[in-house]
Amino acid sequence: MQLSNNTILVTGGASGIGLGLTRRFLQQKNTVIVCGRREDVLQEAASQNPGLITRKCDLANAADRETLYAWVTKNHPQCNVLVNNAGIQNWMDIADKDFFQRAQQEIAINIEAPLHLTSLFLNHQPLTTVMNVTSGLSFTPLTKVPVYSATKAFMHSYTLSLRHLLKARNIEVIEVIPPALNTDLGGKGIHNFAPSVNDFIDAIFTQLEEGKTALTFQFSEAMTKAGPPELQAAFTRMNP
Ligand SMILES: NC(=O)c1ccc[n+]([C@@H]2O[C@H](COP(=O)([O-])OP(=O)(O)OC[C@H]3O[C@@H](n4cnc5c(N)ncnc54)[C@H](OP(=O)(O)O)[C@@H]3O)[C@@H](O)[C@H]2O)c1
Repeated sequence: MQLSNNTILVTGGASGIGLGLTRRFLQQKNTVIVCGRREDVLQEAASQNPGLITRKCDLANAADRETLYAWVTKNHPQCNVLVNNAGIQNWMDIADKDFFQRAQQEIAINIEAPLHLTSLFLNHQPLTTVMNVTSGLSFTPLTKVPVYSATKAFMHSYTLSLRHLLKARNIEVIEVIPPALNTDLGGKGIHNFAPSVNDFIDAIFTQLEEGKTALTFQFSEAMTKAGPPELQAAFTRMNP
């Protein structure tokens, strides 16, 4: 993708990886719109990033997704990049009483929302690029986050199909594949051990400049290149 002069919607762009992408896109002279559920987090991101446009919405809700699409395309009709970044990660056991309810919530936010938003934005003529944020866990699951890992495997597979299907329309499909990074995903403190978002953003913007469409870093780079023995070894290491 060209890295300047776009109008970009980053879902979940007021924190974590989404905020890292947002800051870099702003620095590179793009217009950026972010959405999320927490008004205070949106306000904080706006106050620290002049020019940032924010919109409150709950992507678990189909009606909210339609309202977001209508609002973006009415108020920012030049919007040409959709970044499906928002996600949640539920640490849970298969025997938990609320397992199914929490699994449904993860499926709604991590799968239904990006599928629905993408299908809506495919009706918007200026669209040039869809960027989906998957995970190193798309390739080998962490069984403490069993449904999360499966949602990311789904999105990895779907992104490969989408890229193929949208080639004829000249719409580029980019997969951002983070390893564990230091954000609040899954709850504060859980990812403190992991590399910083800034290091990850530096690495993937270099790859974007090189024209790559599957953007990886450290563990996720290894996972995308792994064969069955390496994947099995990673699974055993991660799930003792
Ligand atoms: N950090 C990692 O280790 C890691 C590794 C691989 C992949 N990823 C992926 O990277 C993406 C970003 O995660 P992150 O690590 O940056 O975590 P994060 O800081 O918790 O960011 C998630 C963002 O998604 C938004 N969001 C969640 N549910 C939403 C909903 N129903 N409606 C609207 N917005 C919603 C959150 O905002 P609100 O809470 O205000 O709604 C938040 O801004 C996710 O897809 C995640 O799966 C992260």
